[in-house]
Amino acid sequence: MGASTQVRILDQRTPQERDRTFLPGAGKTWLLPFYDAFTRLGGVRALHERAVGLAGIEPGQAVADIGCGTGNLSLAILAARPDARVTGLDPDRQALRRAARKARRRGVPLTLVQGYADRFPAEDASLDHVVSSLALHHLDDDDRKAFARESMRTLRPSGKVTIVDFGGPASDSGHAPHGHGPVHALRHLPRPLRARVADSPAVARNQADGIVTLLTEAGFEDAREVAHADHRFGRVTFVQGTRPRTES
Ligand SMILES: C[S@@+](CC[C@H](N)C(=O)[O-])C[C@H]1O[C@@H](n2cnc3c(N)ncnc32)[C@H](O)[C@@H]1O
Repeated sequence: MGASTQVRILDQRTPQERDRTFLPGAGKTWLLPFYDAFTRLGGVRALHERAVGLAGIEPGQAVADIGCGTGNLSLAILAARPDARVTGLDPDRQALRRAARKARRRGVPLTLVQGYADRFPAEDASLDHVVSSLALHHLDDDDRKAFARESMRTLRPSGKVTIVDFGGPASDSGHAPHGHGPVHALRHLPRPLRARVADSPAVARNQADGIVTLLTEAGFEDAREVAHADHRFGRVTFVQGTRPRTES
């Protein structure tokens, strides 16, 4: 099979979901063409590579990248593990097209699914890894819970979820008065974007142990922050959890 035929985009949306809204990667649909350049300059690639290292994906394993956007985390996985079976999920068709173009150029196989984080394109207990980068803060409360539930459903026992996103123990709303914490860390961003990231109610849900609690409540074992980065977009947390071998 040629490399180009190994890259495909499937539409998993129901008719009702065709009008469903979502928060795009760069906040506005028209900013999508700038997303890759912006995140490259912002050093997001290093976050992806760290997430891949922490996930510990082994040869041939099945991985779902939730909120994959333009596919950069999926491609980082495939750069490290060319034989991993990676599926990216995102509601943004244009972002998926960009991901597909990049995968074809690199000659790596990638399945891309247009859909939402409350329904993963995978059978029960069929995945070794769920990964997600900078996407959880784009989901509302119900979808965050559904993401955690779907991760539990689709991971095999001992399968692992690895999340990288803004937030974690030391973060706050970005209102710190004197140059420490997120306000300081976000100082390189243009003001409107900085305010949007720091003040977003969704990022607020990631603060403290928000992501750890989300995973624990869904039934994950040993959910915890395994690393963090003081990134110029704000504090970034890496959280992992393992699906227990036996359900309690
Ligand atoms: C900041 S981008 C991150 C993209 C990519 N993971 C990365 O690290 O570059 C957030 C992504 O979440 C996606 N998203 C928004 N709502 C979603 C939902 N309900 N389900 C799945 N993905 C969603 C957006 O379309 C966007 O591609």
